[in-house]
Amino acid sequence: MDYQAKFGPYALVAGASTTVGEQFARQLAAKGMNVVLVARRLPLLEKIAGEIREAYGVDARPVAMDLTADDAVDQLAAAVADLEIGILVVNANIHKVGLFHSMDRATKVRMLRMNTELPMLLTDHFGGMMVERGRGAVIYVNVLNSLSPIDIDGIFQGTKAFLRVFAESLWLEYRRHGVQVSTVLVNGIEGSESYEKKLSPTSRVVAKVIGGSMKPERIVASALRQFEKGKWVCVPDYPIPVNQLAVWSLDSFRAIGGTSAAKVSSGIFGMLLDGDEVQATKK
Ligand SMILES: NC(=O)c1ccc[n+]([C@@H]2O[C@H](COP(=O)([O-])OP(=O)(O)OC[C@H]3O[C@@H](n4cnc5c(N)ncnc54)[C@H](OP(=O)(O)O)[C@@H]3O)[C@@H](O)[C@H]2O)c1
Repeated sequence: MDYQAKFGPYALVAGASTTVGEQFARQLAAKGMNVVLVARRLPLLEKIAGEIREAYGVDARPVAMDLTADDAVDQLAAAVADLEIGILVVNANIHKVGLFHSMDRATKVRMLRMNTELPMLLTDHFGGMMVERGRGAVIYVNVLNSLSPIDIDGIFQGTKAFLRVFAESLWLEYRRHGVQVSTVLVNGIEGSESYEKKLSPTSRVVAKVIGGSMKPERIVASALRQFEKGKWVCVPDYPIPVNQLAVWSLDSFRAIGGTSAAKVSSGIFGMLLDGDEVQATKK
C-alpha cells in the first residue's frame, strides 16, 4: 500500500517515545510516511527521529510537550501547522490503578483528561482537517479488555470504554468522508514500564504463556497488517488468534453474562494486577 498517496504525507504519533508509539513511528516511516513524534522526553524523541531519518530517508520531527497541558492541542497544532497530517496515532495514556474511593481526585481528573478529552480534542483538530481533505486515518491504541469492569481500575477502564465506543462511532461517521478509523486492542506490552510495574514477574510469565503479552514490534506489525485491510478493530495476534478469541469472548460474555461477566472479568484481570505499583495502592 502507498501510505502517503492514500492518507497524506505525515503521520503524527501522540506518545512516540517508547514501546508501541515508538514502533508506530518507526514502522510507518518504513512504509514511507514522514513522522511527527510527540511525548515529553526530548532526548528519546531526538534519538528515535535521527534513527528514522537515517534508516528510511523520511522527515522526522520531534515535538516535546506535556499532552495534559491545558493548551496541549493548540501547542501541537502550532508546532505542525505547516504539515499535512494524514495519519493520527493516539497512543499516549495515563494508567493509575487504585480503588476509586482512595484515589486522589487530581489523579482521576488527569487520567480522564489524557485518556478521553485529549483523544477527542486531537481528533477534533486533525480529524476535522482530514474530513475536509477527504483522506486520512485515525488510529486509537486501546486495551484488549476495553469493555471489562475491574474493581481496582474503574477510572482507567471507564476511559478505555469511552475510547472504544467513541472510535467505533467515529468509524461510522468518518467513512462517509474517506477517513479511516481503526482501534488497536493491545494485550500486555513486553518491555513497557507501566506493564512491568503493574504485573509481578510471575504474572508476566503467566500472561506470556497464555498469549497475553507481546513485544511492541510485533504488536504494531500485526496491527498495521490489519489496518491496511481497513479493519475498524485490529487485534494484534499470534498465528493462532488467541487475542481475537479473548476479545470475542470478553465482548460476548459482557452482553450475556450480567453481573457474573463483571465479577469474572474483574477477578481474572484483578488477579494479574499484582505488581509493585498495584500493591502500593492496597496498603
Ligand atoms: N502497558 C501495557 O501493557 C498495555 C497493555 C494494553 C494496552 N496498552 C495501551 O498501549 C498504549 C501504550 O502503553 P504504554 O504502557 O507504552 O504507555 P506509557 O509508557 O505510559 O506511555 C506511552 C507514551 O506516552 C507518552 N506520554 C505519557 N504521558 C505523557 C504526557 N503527559 N505528555 C506527553 N506524552 C506522554 C510517553 O512518553 P513520555 O514519558 O516521554 O512523555 C510514551 O511515549 C496505551 O494507549 C495503553 O493503553 C498498554
